[in-house]
Amino acid sequence: MKGTICMKKVITYGSFDLFHEGHYNLLKNAKALGDTLIVGVTTEHYDAYRGKLNIVDPLITRMDNVRGSGFADEIIVEDHEGQKLSDIQKYGIDIFTVGADWRGEFDYLKDYCEVTYLERTHGISSTLLRNERKGIVRMGIAGSGRIADRFASETKYVSGLSVPAVYNPHIDSARSFAGRRGVALFMDDYDKFLGEADAVYVATPHETHYGYAKRAILAGKHVLCEKPMVLCEAQARELFDLAQARGVILMEAVKTAFLPAFLNLLAIAKSGRIGHVRDVESAFTRLMPDENRGREFTPGTGGSFTELGSYPLLPVIKILGLNYTDVRFESFTDENGLDIYTKAHFKYDGAIATSKTGLGVKSEGQLLISGTRGYILVQSPWWLTQSFEVCYEDVQQNERFFAKYEGFGLRYELADFVRAVGDAKERNFKMSAADSVAMAGIMEKFLAQRPVQ
Ligand code: CTP
Repeated sequence: MKGTICMKKVITYGSFDLFHEGHYNLLKNAKALGDTLIVGVTTEHYDAYRGKLNIVDPLITRMDNVRGSGFADEIIVEDHEGQKLSDIQKYGIDIFTVGADWRGEFDYLKDYCEVTYLERTHGISSTLLRNERKGIVRMGIAGSGRIADRFASETKYVSGLSVPAVYNPHIDSARSFAGRRGVALFMDDYDKFLGEADAVYVATPHETHYGYAKRAILAGKHVLCEKPMVLCEAQARELFDLAQARGVILMEAVKTAFLPAFLNLLAIAKSGRIGHVRDVESAFTRLMPDENRGREFTPGTGGSFTELGSYPLLPVIKILGLNYTDVRFESFTDENGLDIYTKAHFKYDGAIATSKTGLGVKSEGQLLISGTRGYILVQSPWWLTQSFEVCYEDVQQNERFFAKYEGFGLRYELADFVRAVGDAKERNFKMSAADSVAMAGIMEKFLAQRPVQ
């Protein structure tokens, strides 16, 4: 054999969002490791899957920028986990490389090729540039209970956001939350608290949502409000009208509405794949020991439907729409007249739906969407959807879909909220004003027919 030339093939991957000097240096050094450089650029979908939200540049722009560096011999798209290994085999890769921020993460590839971690360029990152572009949204947290705690833990996964202050009328609760979560300011004066924030996450008891949200909007602050936002349609309309007039974002935090698998499910349900949807049945029940009974049992506004109903109502209105022709409720109540189990029956033209909520009755927490060609089944707990099945008469045709979410799943609604604050033009179709107004209207109808004891 005449002199064989050993060409070394190098591969690297990244989002390459808002292409910067760090990316340029990385590509240059990666190219210098061998003769041919292949660069894998991640899709937005894959970035969202691995918890990287808020990517600014479209895939095409990011690929163009990598090409523009002049170091890449070939550019490919990375769209799923496990692709790196198959790429190494497919392209006959000799060296896999990424920045040193990933040190150790890809050692498992050493069985297949050389793995090299390159020094990062200091003082620059896409995250930094995204923050500079949009500015940081200072998000105050009103309320310091369990959901606020979870929320605070998720904020660090969304770029463009800081949490400068927490509010609670009980200063001791605010203080201990601030200590626990590393929040600089804790306050029991709501107006002062608003002065420290651009946006407010309202995670206070239900009956106080309206007041806190309204004061925040009137002060020109964006509001992300826990569910149920309000329990009366007129109040919901008023808040959205006010928000529009003040030019601020108001969004109801129904986290399931923003989860990747739920969005996938909606797309499939509405695509006609299971034919015409004739029935939506969803349930959310939670039993709790007597000693843990809290706000769920508040006379007047407590009970299973107001407490839990936002979840099972979500697929009903997202799939069948807002124009139901009738809604009827059946409940069991406790000694205070609070419903411990409620079935809401909806009628639509050509479809029906049922929502079940329980604080004193336990049921299977599944979502079942029945159509003229098949059905979609999401196993309990469906509101934390990560996978679902699409089933047909012929079981051979059944399909299973997966789309995992990270952490408590709150980061997805939060990322959408921050994006909406940065770009008011972005239409929020996942949980729109109309959706929230409809939900408040259903809650109101339920409360109006509840027997007073
Ligand atoms: N990189 C680097 N130096 C930097 C930033 C990134 O060497 N200052 C490298 C990363 O280690 C990775 C590649 O560039 O190998 C693509 O990284 P990417 O995640 O797209 O860039 P980041 O700026 O780190 O993005 P983010 O802030 O979104 O994490």
